[in-house]
Amino acid sequence: MSTLKTSVLGIEFENPFLLASAPPTASIESIDKAFQMGWGGAVIKTITPDDLEMFEVSPRYETLKSKGKIIGFQNIELLSHKSVKYWCDGIHYLKKKYPEKVIIASIMAPVKRDEWQNLIHILNDTPIDAYELNFSCPHGMPERNIGMAIGTSAEISILITSWVKSIANKPVFVKLTPNVTDITWIAKAVEKAGCDGFAAINTVQGFMGVNLDTLEPNLCIDGYSTYGGCSGEIVKPIGFKCVAQIRQCSDLPILGMGGISNWQDAAQYITLGADVVQICTEVMLNGYGVINGLKTGLLNYLNEKRMNSISELKNIAIPKITSHGKLNRNYHLYPDINDEKCGKCGKCVKICSESEYNALIKKEKCIELNKNACEGCSLCSHVCPQGAITMKIIFEPTSD
Ligand SMILES: Cc1cc2nc3c(=O)[nH]c(=O)nc-3n(C[C@H](O)[C@H](O)[C@H](O)COP(=O)(O)O)c2cc1C
Repeated sequence: MSTLKTSVLGIEFENPFLLASAPPTASIESIDKAFQMGWGGAVIKTITPDDLEMFEVSPRYETLKSKGKIIGFQNIELLSHKSVKYWCDGIHYLKKKYPEKVIIASIMAPVKRDEWQNLIHILNDTPIDAYELNFSCPHGMPERNIGMAIGTSAEISILITSWVKSIANKPVFVKLTPNVTDITWIAKAVEKAGCDGFAAINTVQGFMGVNLDTLEPNLCIDGYSTYGGCSGEIVKPIGFKCVAQIRQCSDLPILGMGGISNWQDAAQYITLGADVVQICTEVMLNGYGVINGLKTGLLNYLNEKRMNSISELKNIAIPKITSHGKLNRNYHLYPDINDEKCGKCGKCVKICSESEYNALIKKEKCIELNKNACEGCSLCSHVCPQGAITMKIIFEPTSD
């Protein structure tokens, strides 16, 4: 029988699913509810020094939809509104009630040694399991020289990591921003500064467009808007890439996240190097109860694969990711069209001709392939609504 239990830096997780630092972890009551429902742990909504002002705006969300379904948020919300004392008391309460659950304190402070170290001194006296340094919030904070302003500067990231590490009595994870050209650059810098692991990704900076009737931004606050942090399904490929890139440059543990909405997403993050995963947007959209499907799905999968635990799944896809130049130029797939399944809609022919390949020809009863023109790009197989096209190696008949 497989198990979802796992351990990272000596911290025991009953399952690898944590709530990410965000609205679902903004109060003790919320975390309490999540723990009752079976979450393995929670990263508290980022705690800051009490005098750092958090003055929110309204509205602060915009969504991106596909066929009526929300596939992503853009938010411009700030950090925790609760005091440091509220969180210290809450951590004691939660740990007493749920000793087996993992609680991670996400923190952020102005770039001053005292400000970071004061927070650590206070939190060191609580039974939290680890710290997550928020170097990555993309809105509101950078204009105050914190958040993503820290995580886009190797120099400042190194400075703060070493201040924290010099006094922290728990493992320190650095939460990285995807809003950089190369995430490994900051990852390597904070590893050198002594961090114990990474969390990635925080939200991806974006802008949800303009309302063409009013000609005002879609996320409109009294006529104005600002760039915000995107999350949910739309950021998943960016999260996958960042986690894989971090894993390719470091062996330290990774708390992986970004766009996880089911157990399959979580499993893929683990194959790409995540030790455990965190989730925010999916929980906001569908509630804490999504934990049941996540746990059952992942456990069934491990059983089917005859894997004892997620440690056997971890990093499995990493050796398969290489540079573009190293990909095999002698490997060529062609579309194999199942005539019975094919609805003759011509979508494959259209995309093939509009993309300049002209390898598919619509005939009265079938779609014909001109093998000489086909570059094996695979676009046709992706647009076929019937799933009638499979990319295959077509072997040439030998002459002898
Ligand atoms: C409304 C909202 C508030 C967030 N607040 C925080 C925060 O306080 N600290 C933090 O580190 N990340 C914060 N995040 C980022 C999430 O923790 C997470 O990194 C990101 O949303 C990607 O995960 P997801 O696609 O599962 O939502 C916030 C995200 C959202 C949507």
